[in-house]
Amino acid sequence: MKKFYIGTNWKMTKTLEEGLLYTRELKKVSEQLDHSKIELFIIPSHPSLIPIKSEIEDSTIKIGAQNMHWEERGAYTGEVSPLMLQEIGMDIIELGHSERRAYFNETDKAINKKVHAALNANMKPLICIGEKLDEKENNISVETLSKQIKLTLKGLNKEHLPHILLAYEPVWAIGENGIPADSAYVSYIHGEIRKILVDLFEETGSQVPILYGGSVNLDNYLSYFEDKNVNGLFIGRAAWDMISFEKILKTCHSLL
Ligand code: PGA
Repeated sequence: MKKFYIGTNWKMTKTLEEGLLYTRELKKVSEQLDHSKIELFIIPSHPSLIPIKSEIEDSTIKIGAQNMHWEERGAYTGEVSPLMLQEIGMDIIELGHSERRAYFNETDKAINKKVHAALNANMKPLICIGEKLDEKENNISVETLSKQIKLTLKGLNKEHLPHILLAYEPVWAIGENGIPADSAYVSYIHGEIRKILVDLFEETGSQVPILYGGSVNLDNYLSYFEDKNVNGLFIGRAAWDMISFEKILKTCHSLL
């Protein structure tokens, strides 16, 4: 049985103090989970990474950063480098979230450089892809995703594939104004993403976990979890509240 991934990106929502309280609660929940079944990860904001990392040192919770530059050093004010994030023990680097693409003009080309940089620094890139509403309405979701995959994974070889994570996050499903995606649609898209990966990387393409994210909540998480094409859940709001996150984690765990 493969591990099921469940993680949360905190976005810009928690101060260090709030993050520490949250992490202490999450640790208690994680102690009740069998980690050969569930890979649990959190992605705090940059200033919280070092203290949160030491808070989870004695647990099996994995930790990642929300963004990173591709260069090791340089005159890039406001950026952090792979070297810096590797030094503080990051497991995962989240790349290409739709908010970074929309508000910070992040392109597939830039994400691709970051993917290579993360892998070179022995950290797992968690690459977010997703189509916009007008792309879905014009029936070009799969074409859009195929382009994003080809460009963000450009130059990778088969050996890299077991070290990456992919998150399918339709832009129209994310956040306060997001419309939760129908699980049949998610299943179909995940199947298409898998085909694209296998087409590009043969057998190793089948090893990449494909997570789903976008308005996952207490009403719909099981519909995604139960689909064999979905290898994990990447959750925002419903995971920031420990009551709902605990329910999601424990229920998924009991069903694995
Ligand atoms: P959401 O966020 O669950 O609050 O929609 C998901 C995400 O942006 O990854």
